Amino acid sequence: MRRVTLVEVFKHRITQKYLQRSGINHAVTVAEYAFDMAVEMGVGPDLATKSALLHDMGHYEWYRDGKWDYDEYRKSDIHAIKGAERAHKLLIRLGEDRLVAKEVSVAVLLHTDSYLPFGLDEKRTPLQHVVAKADEKDEQPMGLHHYKQMDKSHALKRLHDLDRKIEQVLTKNNDSA
Ligand SMILES: [Fe+2]
Repeated sequence: MRRVTLVEVFKHRITQKYLQRSGINHAVTVAEYAFDMAVEMGVGPDLATKSALLHDMGHYEWYRDGKWDYDEYRKSDIHAIKGAERAHKLLIRLGEDRLVAKEVSVAVLLHTDSYLPFGLDEKRTPLQHVVAKADEKDEQPMGLHHYKQMDKSHALKRLHDLDRKIEQVLTKNNDSA
């Protein structure tokens, strides 16, 4: 049984604050991709979608002089580290299971290797792989995927649908276990 739903995660004020910066559209779309990939690869859809929804919540300092300076941002970027910490704090506050909070946090930390002095290809667990691939699938040049619009009510509807689909998969897996 899941302790916390995607809708609950999304509605929390911490999520609302930080997802505005990196884009609700990107977060919801990556969560949907992660669900499909997780089911395909036999990865837990609850962990995959939570990690995907929160993967970019560590983004900060989007603008310089009213303009988005992509190159400058890339140089000093540690959004995966910040995101991992924020995601963990958020999930614990929501009453999430500690192991789930840890798995999600590490998947957020490793969803990109752009800030690391080495690559992560082949080193990721299946969960971490799903989150990285789902993110890549929605990426556009110059970070444009962060600017696609989606209003909150539409995001909630899509996350509601996703929550239902996750429950169905988990129930089915339990039945066959
Ligand atoms: Fe992303």
